[in-house]
Amino acid sequence: MKVLAILYNGNEAAVQEPRLLGTVENKLGIAEWLASQGHELVVSSSKEGPDSDFQKHLVDAEVLITTPFHPGYLTRDLIEKAKNLKICITAGVGSDHIDLNAAVDHKIQVLEVSGSNVVSVAEHVVMSILLLVRNFVPAHEMIERGDWAVSDIARNAFDLEGKVVGTIGAGRIGYRVLQRLVPFDCKELLYYDYAPLPAGAAEAIKARRVEDLKEFVSQCDVVTVNCPLHEGTRGLVDDELLKHFKKGAWLVNTARGAICDKDAVARSLKSGHLNGYAGDVWNVQPAPKDHVWRTMKNDLGAGNGMVPHYSGTTLDAQARYASGTKSILENYLNNKPQEAQNIIVGLGKYETKAYGQR
Ligand code: NAI
Repeated sequence: MKVLAILYNGNEAAVQEPRLLGTVENKLGIAEWLASQGHELVVSSSKEGPDSDFQKHLVDAEVLITTPFHPGYLTRDLIEKAKNLKICITAGVGSDHIDLNAAVDHKIQVLEVSGSNVVSVAEHVVMSILLLVRNFVPAHEMIERGDWAVSDIARNAFDLEGKVVGTIGAGRIGYRVLQRLVPFDCKELLYYDYAPLPAGAAEAIKARRVEDLKEFVSQCDVVTVNCPLHEGTRGLVDDELLKHFKKGAWLVNTARGAICDKDAVARSLKSGHLNGYAGDVWNVQPAPKDHVWRTMKNDLGAGNGMVPHYSGTTLDAQARYASGTKSILENYLNNKPQEAQNIIVGLGKYETKAYGQR
């Protein structure tokens, strides 16, 4: 059996730090185990274009392992060429880089390691909310420059206490974000999701559901995006929706870059309607050098909390998703049932309700 894994390069860091499991160098820690079972493992970061290792090896691979951090984009076209492909495993959470409808049509299963990095992301969201609301990034940059002008920072620094925070998507991550915000004494915690939280879960954190998206954003000081990318969420935060945000609102998106319209966000920030935007996900990854989100600023020259895609790939998260990937592979090799929560696409149908209402 041929297993193809598209991972990110760890370079020198992966040699020095073996816990960087999700890298080309450390191969999710499964290389020896697979070899001992007589299987072939090809690992590469080369993923773009017809000459990439991804496209060359996909044609006869039975198992494809990908990671959202360095996504091998599995389009319908490529699926049609992958005659041997039976199962795609996402080492992490979020399988939108795979054409899931094409996987359904071609009876290719898609699994992810559900829950493996949800705390990692929720912590990053809380950090990003704080760094925007408190105007942290320009304050630190000022210190590095050797300057000291308190009022330049304080003129746009606030407390999170007393603000309204809402999440688009209240699944594993969205719920954990709200849970972690409870001690901050926000004015209200809101959520927008077609799947209501169980009554006990909503009550435990006093979260209120708002069913209309425009109404929802118009009530929030901070909006955080925590839903998967699918047909119903691509470009969801566009010029039109941004008009309904409160003036001066902050937006944090660690879900997927393409849920927000890149240029609409940059425009809204520049005009000062959005006060800040932070996140780690980009509409194309790696993000091109001239991507507007790298350098966009609000009307005061601040409000950018962008980082490369790493919130869900802390060393703690890597240990969990590497071991989860191995379990999924073991189940597959031994014909054992997979854990239901990991199955996104089963044989010919969606097994999750999180990737859109069908
Ligand atoms: P989950 O499946 O537990 O929750 C997703 C929630 O979004 C569900 O409650 C679903 O009903 C809701 N949803 C779907 N479509 C929606 C829509 N149109 N409007 C409102 N709500 C909608 O997933 P989980 O674990 O919370 O992860 C969410 C996403 O976060 C992943 O799909 C992935 O894209 C992203 N993620 C990012 C990571 C990072 O490193 N930045 C790491 C892990 C996940």
